[in-house]
Amino acid sequence: ARAERLQRGDASTAVAAKAVAGQLTILYGSQTGQARRVAAQLHARAEAAGLAARLVRADAYPQRELAKETHLVVVISTQGDAEPPDDARGLVEFVLGKRAPKLPGLRYAVLGLGDSSYPQFCAIGRQLDDRLAALGATRFAALGEADVDVDAVAAPWSDSTLEQARQALGTSQPARVATLQPVPHRATHTREHPFHAAVLDNQSIVARDAGRDVRHMELSLEGSGLSYEPGDSLGVWPSNPPALVDQWLGVLKLDGEQVVTHEGRSLPLRQWLSRERELTRLSRPLVAVLADAAGDDELARLLRPDQSAALAALMAEHQPIDLWRRHASDWSAEELVAALRPLVPRLYSIASSRKAVGEEVHLTVGVVDYVAHGERHWGAASSFLAQAGDEQSLPIYIEPNERFRLPQDDARDIIMIGPGTGIAPFRAFVQERRETGARGRNWLFFGNRHFSSEFLYQVEWQAALRDGSLHRLDLAFSRDDAAKVYVQQRLREQGRELYAWLQEGAQLYVCGDANRMAKDVNAALIDIATTHGGHTHEQAREWLSDLLQQGRYARDVY
Ligand code: 2AM
Repeated sequence: ARAERLQRGDASTAVAAKAVAGQLTILYGSQTGQARRVAAQLHARAEAAGLAARLVRADAYPQRELAKETHLVVVISTQGDAEPPDDARGLVEFVLGKRAPKLPGLRYAVLGLGDSSYPQFCAIGRQLDDRLAALGATRFAALGEADVDVDAVAAPWSDSTLEQARQALGTSQPARVATLQPVPHRATHTREHPFHAAVLDNQSIVARDAGRDVRHMELSLEGSGLSYEPGDSLGVWPSNPPALVDQWLGVLKLDGEQVVTHEGRSLPLRQWLSRERELTRLSRPLVAVLADAAGDDELARLLRPDQSAALAALMAEHQPIDLWRRHASDWSAEELVAALRPLVPRLYSIASSRKAVGEEVHLTVGVVDYVAHGERHWGAASSFLAQAGDEQSLPIYIEPNERFRLPQDDARDIIMIGPGTGIAPFRAFVQERRETGARGRNWLFFGNRHFSSEFLYQVEWQAALRDGSLHRLDLAFSRDDAAKVYVQQRLREQGRELYAWLQEGAQLYVCGDANRMAKDVNAALIDIATTHGGHTHEQAREWLSDLLQQGRYARDVY
């Protein structure tokens, strides 16, 4: 029975209303909160325009209502290689599957979010858009496809979709603009209006010989009015590293002081490059612009649909500056600013509980700083954070993650898998469960390269084991012995017990690398369910997919 009382995230935005003719239902599926943000903005604007609208997270949506909808907007991201966000797996499966109802009475619009550095850009949005049409529904706005600089596409798409929705739903309703707040009352500081947080502490938590730096940072939230729950992320608006801006100015032989006007704003070039433009991430559109401007046929070839793997490899191994080095000549400052994409904030999983640290927020930051193609490269946010001193304040906001929450029932056990900086939210979880005297057991799997140099928060975990706030700790150091050991090997070794915990209702969490680790951990969990649960491979996959949908297997991976 314990296993039946399923823990869900806060679905407060959901299911208050039912499908009603003439109502606009806005469904979202979101992994990092971007789709949720865009959907919530659209919802607020629709209401302000006098439309009857409801906002529903995909996993809180009763699927039988789909057949009753008349007007539907779906805002949904695509993860990595054409995966839906965890909160929309059930919905996507349902709509794409054989049991989906015919929808002749439905008018709809889909906005896909994605990252064009992946070959299957916006795949989930595209599939849903196609499928709804195949089920007989009619679009009232064309599919939107937003890249990592979400708002460049999402803002105009929302404008036109809202306009279409007003026409489709009839303008007979009096506009309620005057009586409604355009946006619900929320924290004063948001992504658009970040809080400037003072740096209280910024220290390396790996040994000097670790070969890479990881920092523990403590920021002050005093006076911000900001609050967060364990599992939430901190959004950080970085500035690009000054040395990287200098590389650009040097390679393109441009003067940083020269004033550049773009879309009505005039700033010195140096400021455009350090605060306003994405310098560390390649995207398909950027490759396209460069291929075109430089007349580089080889680059242009990579943009063909059958070359997506080669393009993905290029984007994984290069930053924009590497490509510009080959084509440095003939770029004016104006052209450069127009070609580069707007800088977007980065999310860090919060590493503290407010119950333990008060008006502070802690982060665990892996510093990206390496040499490739004979030149030094940096990560934008991690180098920005790494160099931040006492006198500096950092533009930040809270990005809630409703899907990555401690169980409401504090007697429930939790299993946390967090190698590398994926440890961060579990420090918050264990702090919180200690402060609240939670009754359930806490089991942590952590891995890193070396025990002696990279055992993050070692002293704290040892204290937690002693004071009873951590019940089990399994470690996997990958480079201490000849053979690699990863967390998933430890999971397999502990498979019987782990499966027993899950059968008793334990909640499972994974945080860290999405591309390799999270996939391998997923495979290990399926193996464990076949070995210790007597499932076939297919049954085990379904069992795990059920856990995901129920919110009992939650992932914060990037
Ligand atoms: P490696 O770098 O020695 O291969 C955090 O970065 C830890 O995650 C490191 O010990 C790293 O090992 C390990 N790691 C790398 N790939 C992994 C994978 N596919 N699954 C789990 N851990 C992995």
